[in-house]
Amino acid sequence: MREVAIVGAGMTQFGELWQSSLRDLFVEAAAAALRSAGADHVDSIFIGNMSGGQFVGQEHLGPLLADHLGMAGVAAVRVESACASGGAALGLGFMAVASGLADVVLAAGVEKMTDGADVTNVLASAADQENEVYHGITFPGLYAMIARAHMQVKGTTEEDLAWVSVKNHKHGAMNPKAQFRTEVTVDQVLKSSMVAEPLRLLHCSPVSDGAAAVLLCPLDKAEKYTDKPVKIVGSGMATSAMALADRKDLAVLDAVAQSGERAYKMAGVMPKDVQVAEVHDCFSIAEICCIEALGLVSEGKGAKAAASGHTALGGQIPVNTSGGLKSKGHPVGATGVAQAIEIFEQLRGEAGERQVEGARIGLTQNMGGSGASSVVHIYEGVR
Ligand code: COA
Repeated sequence: MREVAIVGAGMTQFGELWQSSLRDLFVEAAAAALRSAGADHVDSIFIGNMSGGQFVGQEHLGPLLADHLGMAGVAAVRVESACASGGAALGLGFMAVASGLADVVLAAGVEKMTDGADVTNVLASAADQENEVYHGITFPGLYAMIARAHMQVKGTTEEDLAWVSVKNHKHGAMNPKAQFRTEVTVDQVLKSSMVAEPLRLLHCSPVSDGAAAVLLCPLDKAEKYTDKPVKIVGSGMATSAMALADRKDLAVLDAVAQSGERAYKMAGVMPKDVQVAEVHDCFSIAEICCIEALGLVSEGKGAKAAASGHTALGGQIPVNTSGGLKSKGHPVGATGVAQAIEIFEQLRGEAGERQVEGARIGLTQNMGGSGASSVVHIYEGVR
């Protein structure tokens, strides 16, 4: 297996981007990634996208987007794993380069969610239709059940949940690409409107448009593109039961733990070695469950990690320095690749106000649905 590096990155602003279509967003991010590395050729393109068909009526994204990038002829496919589509596209791009089948790969993600589709119903198509959606459940409802279970088993409080949003909005306020660049207080979170008890508006990631892209190549060819490559040293994917009712313990995300174990093993890295992480905080409870499943906090310490400053910038393991899905935004298919870009910038020392000083090892975790699929990558800076 060859060593793989990220050598270029580009992303759009995240937010309600009325002026840009799905193809515009993809081309903007992909062209920025190519430009940043001075590249004019790729062997293949993997595009994370949850549901171009339902959101904007556009399927068959591979050829469409390759053509609009001026690269008709290149092998290009859409990759789908619900909200983990971007992470999965990155994972497949990594495999293509590591295996030697491709030398230069564009791993991208794009989603256009605000063009008038019934977003809640489209997102719900990533849950179990027969056993969950048929009964009227939505994603906020599913994560509310996970939150309730966590509260019951581990004593997590509504204030603990609120602190995750406060921390991530604080980080996002420093990110020029973030959808919401405003700080919020615990009081504001606890007084925001109820969406699905105990989750309120300010516990939820928003509905967003956006795209992100990274350029991958073998490490030994990286100097052609950059003097600061970032190695992908571990890649792990996993799945678990789709319906919450089929899981042993609602408060534990098995696929997250398993994808993490696979990535740690490939990387030869322990959770304690990770210095900065982006995890899938689609709802505040998700960040708590994910940092526990990944071993980024010790058993039972997830709930208080944001409140205590442990996972804040300046803390022991800063989590979601980009603002996370909560504040940066969550254009679902793009999220996994945008997470990789935050770590790419952190490990190159280019994260500006959000920089984690001296960070050398980073991690991203991106999940689909209520945690039925998960993708983890581990990165090492070589500057
Ligand atoms: N966080 C902070 N502010 C938000 C927000 C969020 N998640 N969602 C919307 N807002 C703001 C809007 O900017 C708007 O502010 P304004 O009045 O100052 O312009 C206001 O709240 C109302 O926005 P609106 O779009 O009408 O909200 P909504 O009630 O239709 O949607 C949610 C709110 C929480 C239901 C929606 O954001 C949502 O479904 N989020 C979850 C997405 C999801 O499930 N993703 C997949 C995860 S697996």
